[in-house]
Amino acid sequence: MKLLVTGGAGFIGSNFILYWMKNYPQDKIVNLDILTYAGNLENLKAVEKNPNYTFVHGSICDLKVVEEAMDGIDCVVHFAAESHVDRSILNPSDFIMTNVVGTQVLLDAALKCNIKRFYHVSSDEVYGSLDLDDKSKFNERTNYNPRSPYSASKAASDHLVRAYHETYGLPITITNCSNNFGPYQFPEKFIPLAITNILEGKKVPVYGDGLYVRDWLYVTDHCRAIDLVLNKGKIGETYLVGGMTDNVSNLEVVKKILKIMGKDECAIEYVKDRLGHDRRYAVDWSKIQKELGWKPLHDFNEWLEKTVQWYKENENWWKDVKTGEYKKYYKEQYGKL
Ligand code: NAD
Ligand code: DAU
Repeated sequence: MKLLVTGGAGFIGSNFILYWMKNYPQDKIVNLDILTYAGNLENLKAVEKNPNYTFVHGSICDLKVVEEAMDGIDCVVHFAAESHVDRSILNPSDFIMTNVVGTQVLLDAALKCNIKRFYHVSSDEVYGSLDLDDKSKFNERTNYNPRSPYSASKAASDHLVRAYHETYGLPITITNCSNNFGPYQFPEKFIPLAITNILEGKKVPVYGDGLYVRDWLYVTDHCRAIDLVLNKGKIGETYLVGGMTDNVSNLEVVKKILKIMGKDECAIEYVKDRLGHDRRYAVDWSKIQKELGWKPLHDFNEWLEKTVQWYKENENWWKDVKTGEYKKYYKEQYGKL
């Protein structure tokens, strides 16, 4: 099989390529990535010389580049996106261009190239926010209710993917996944930001009261879910993918990290809240469990500890990205912190 992976130099995309090449060494992978601030070819050092791996430097918004990259491809696995909520609040337009227009360009090319499967990687954020005292979880029938420019752009992309299936018969599958963590995650996201700030002797910014809840999933569990949906998922279907954590607040996550790293809680700094901050995410992943036999296998506490260890051992990786553009963004987002 020959796969086109978009955004394969980012956090989940690169973990997915490493996972796929290990488990399906006979398959060919083309990685199409424009290498924004979030794309990093260092993540793919282990496979860069593999003859079954090809990197194409280009944008999913560029139809010519996309059509060339899709030549001879069986399946498209679409990760490429602007992915950080805080950046979408500072500058929404990049999110509309990449996440909405870029997805539509890919869909047009996929039709033209007779792609056998268009796999769209999406987010649980399209469903909006749950209350803390609410026991319910998102499922495949939950109404869309995106509340940030990022989640609105992902929701729009999901609608386009489904529309191309219903209208033109494009064979698609979609997964909407909760918060991933693990190696190679860009340190603008909460867990790697906390770990690397602590390693640098800086404070950890906690938004608002810190009682916001995310449904944490180790990135390899996400890759396994994509594998199953690609191989056994039903065309046209959506599957939700989530973690094992039960209402763990951001504050508890930071406290766990501080404990793992042997630091006290003085490192916590409460900062002004994110605008329109979604209170709680929780995913009911029973459909993918019942239909495809998937469940998360990586325990949050154990793999949080391993993730801390990874950032400790890969100081060069994150020190290289916490420079230039990152410093500018950090100042705009966090001021003097
Ligand atoms: P990321 O920001 O780490 O990586 C995004 C990648 O896309 C980068 O390599 C970047 O260079 C590339 N890219 C951006 N614009 C591009 C363009 N125009 N053309 C080609 N490449 C482009 O993102 P991530 O956290 O790995 O997320 C990957 C996907 O998974 C996204 O679609 C995101 O919405 C979705 N998702 C992420 C999470 C999470 O917790 N990180 C959870 C659920 C869903
Ligand atoms: O739910 C899936 C989504 O998870 C993905 O679609 C997104 O691409 C991904 O970025 C992530 O979105 P979040 O906004 O939930 O992740 P983030 O790491 O930015 O924030 C996690 C929580 O931590 C959230 O409640 C905000 C809070 N936070 C975040 C940062 C960066 C802080 O308290 N302080 C911070 O400095």
